[in-house]
Amino acid sequence: MVEVKKICVVGAGNMGHQIALAAALAGYNVKCTDVSPEALRRAEEFANRYLPERVAKGKLTEDEARAARGRLSFTPDLTEAARDADLVIEAVIEKLDVKRQVFAQLDQICPPHAILTTNSSYIVSSKIADATRRPEKVCNMHFFNPALVMKLVEVVKGPHVAEETVQTVMAVCRQMGKVPVLLHKEIYGFLVNRIVQAIRNEALYLYETGVASFEDIDTAVVHGLGHPMGPFRLVDLTGIDLAYYVSMERYRETGDPRHKPSPTIVEKFFKKEWGRKTGKGFYTYCT
Ligand SMILES: NC(=O)c1ccc[n+]([C@@H]2O[C@H](COP(=O)([O-])OP(=O)(O)OC[C@H]3O[C@@H](n4cnc5c(N)ncnc54)[C@H](O)[C@@H]3O)[C@@H](O)[C@H]2O)c1
Repeated sequence: MVEVKKICVVGAGNMGHQIALAAALAGYNVKCTDVSPEALRRAEEFANRYLPERVAKGKLTEDEARAARGRLSFTPDLTEAARDADLVIEAVIEKLDVKRQVFAQLDQICPPHAILTTNSSYIVSSKIADATRRPEKVCNMHFFNPALVMKLVEVVKGPHVAEETVQTVMAVCRQMGKVPVLLHKEIYGFLVNRIVQAIRNEALYLYETGVASFEDIDTAVVHGLGHPMGPFRLVDLTGIDLAYYVSMERYRETGDPRHKPSPTIVEKFFKKEWGRKTGKGFYTYCT
């Protein structure tokens, strides 16, 4: 197995900034990069705020917090971030062409032993692996939001992936205190998002046909199914923009109109009501 000491996280957005911090807390040296200086600034500010908060809550000692912060750096330069990485976790926008371009660059920059993973919610790594010369070292490593809190990671072994690669990635997950599950086949949406999407589609159907308000549908799912939050609050958390991109990507791929984003998702996407990140989605948030 590859010995992983240095991790590069590409994309410092919703997911990337927390994955980077979780990896630094687990003892890895982490470099986090993004094309947006604003995203990097926010990610760094988050780390500077989060670690002292954990100390104040008694969850970390000051030494642990200082050491974790010392292992985490931010840079806009992809080459600087990736050139000595043993493992890369890509968490850029959910667009296949962007991801392929990032992987082609990473393949040029990273050492030959480095494993390149994608945190994509839906795109299987076989769609990306051939942008590199190391397909056997490219796999899905799918974290959940918020990545510092959620334990599950879905690791997907596509047909091109070496056993050593998935075993290394599973070991990193465990070192990060996560609970990895291994998918032996590639499938659109992996395990959890297939289930989430089925629930969301039904919830949107019930809302759009006027059967109930979105608040009551959320209430029904929380109190009737015991979920920690309903599907509308969940999509506000994960991002309505992401829900839109994912459905559009799927629709483009299949041509099946059932895969188009629902009218409510389209409307909210174009109004930039993307959920928590913009202060308004289905619900309104203080920013
Ligand atoms: N949001 C979720 O709940 C969630 C959960 C699991 C997985 N994911 C997946 O994680 C990935 C990122 O999602 P997110 O919600 O963090 O998105 P986001 O929009 O919050 O962040 C994406 C970041 O990538 C950056 N970026 C775009 N192109 C780049 C490039 N070429 N190089 C470097 N950085 C680039 C953007 O500037 C942005 O900061 C997606 O693939 C998504 O499917 C998201």
